[in-house]
Amino acid sequence: MYLGIDLGTSAIKTVLVDDAQRVIATQSRSLETVSPHPGWSEQDPAHWIDAAVATLDALKADHPRELAAVEGIGLSGQMHGATLLDANLRPLRPCILWNDGRSALECRELEERWPALRKTTGNKAMPGFTAPKLLWVAKHEPEIFAATRLVLLPKAYLRLHLSGEAVEDVSDASGSLWLDVARRDWSDEGLVATGLLRKHMPRLVEGCAPATTLRSELAQRWGMTRRPVIAGGAGDNPAGAVGIGAIRPGAAFISLGTSGALLVPTDTIAANPDRAVHTFCHAVPAMWIQAGAILSAASCLAWIARLFGASEADLLQPLGARPKAPSPVSFLPYLSGERTPHDDPTARGMLDGLSFGTDRAAIVQAVLEGVAFALADCRDVLADTGIAIAQADVIGGGSRSRFWLAVLANVLDVPIHRFADGETGAAFGAARLGRLAVTGETVEAVCTPPQRVETFEPERALADAYAERLPEWRKLYRPRNQRPSQI
Ligand code: XUL
Repeated sequence: MYLGIDLGTSAIKTVLVDDAQRVIATQSRSLETVSPHPGWSEQDPAHWIDAAVATLDALKADHPRELAAVEGIGLSGQMHGATLLDANLRPLRPCILWNDGRSALECRELEERWPALRKTTGNKAMPGFTAPKLLWVAKHEPEIFAATRLVLLPKAYLRLHLSGEAVEDVSDASGSLWLDVARRDWSDEGLVATGLLRKHMPRLVEGCAPATTLRSELAQRWGMTRRPVIAGGAGDNPAGAVGIGAIRPGAAFISLGTSGALLVPTDTIAANPDRAVHTFCHAVPAMWIQAGAILSAASCLAWIARLFGASEADLLQPLGARPKAPSPVSFLPYLSGERTPHDDPTARGMLDGLSFGTDRAAIVQAVLEGVAFALADCRDVLADTGIAIAQADVIGGGSRSRFWLAVLANVLDVPIHRFADGETGAAFGAARLGRLAVTGETVEAVCTPPQRVETFEPERALADAYAERLPEWRKLYRPRNQRPSQI
């Protein structure tokens, strides 16, 4: 029996998976994000622990026998967050999250201090990444920076609570901007450029390798007969890849979670930091992931549902199974800025083309299309990097909407595949990593693709209509220097 714990942005989800890779039980608890200033995004690390423990306590209540038999645990998590700990390993401030845009200036400073940054990390310094946030803290909260003894990504902080040890996996560490992605090790040069040393970082392991074990008090609390091994685990997107068996070159997939991404595993680094392509080590050895990442995806649908005071299901229902034509309304999904391709934390959303004839359905359709167009931008920068996408699987909460998948197939002009339960993606992938750390099986034996239940093919006339709309949609975005106001 194995556990996968995904520390997401909107919720923590824990899945219990048996030896035949069936999901036996799932528990989740929601998480709050606060924005103390426009463009900022923070969470209290204590809430992660409470929420994760609550999911395990609930599994203990419902499935005590199965939980007792857990041998391996895998963690997955929202990437890039800066959790700063003092000498007693207590958080010094709320975690600064992946979608926090405060450190744009520090990104430029970091690139100046460390000219080899792009070459070493495969990434461009962008505000969501961890390293520039540390420069921001050093500048604006110097007493906190001075007291910082350890810098952890969110799931490593959870692992510290679960095991007492600070360990991180190389896929999540790639999003810190301190990792030499070719060597899969911390870059001392990068750490020094941020005023840090290797001692401020957790130990590194591969995602499918054993990292540590569950503390005995917690194993007892959950009735486990022995202390389960905790695997390295992965950032949420690489964990999602493991969940759907996207472990070898070319297995493109789209994640429609709070954030969105178009990701492709590669066996060599194919970086393109100048176009804001992301380079991550994969959660399996000797593989990498190249990705275009957008900051708002399913969160745009949640936002519009809040505005209309309706459930997402109620908003989607009138749209039917597939679009007949592009919406007359256009939407820019940059509600918390954008990474690929603009790298612009000050970018904001937009609804364009409204009239008295505009109804709710046209706006909802525009929101879904706006996210799809942003993913088309990711497709194009990946194509410039030499990575062509012929088809894609979809994971994440957004994959529940068949209408959205039909929009994606037509906007991207490639077949899009749906799984029966794309939502368990990252947590399920994490459970697989937990298993690999215990059994030492080959990744091929464990990370098999789940059954695809449906394929959405592009329809020629509709795909052409979207291809015509795309350049018009692109014109709606005005780069920072062409806008009157700044945040
Ligand atoms: C990836 C990214 C997001 C977060 C939160 O670069 O920022 O996917 O991991 O999901």
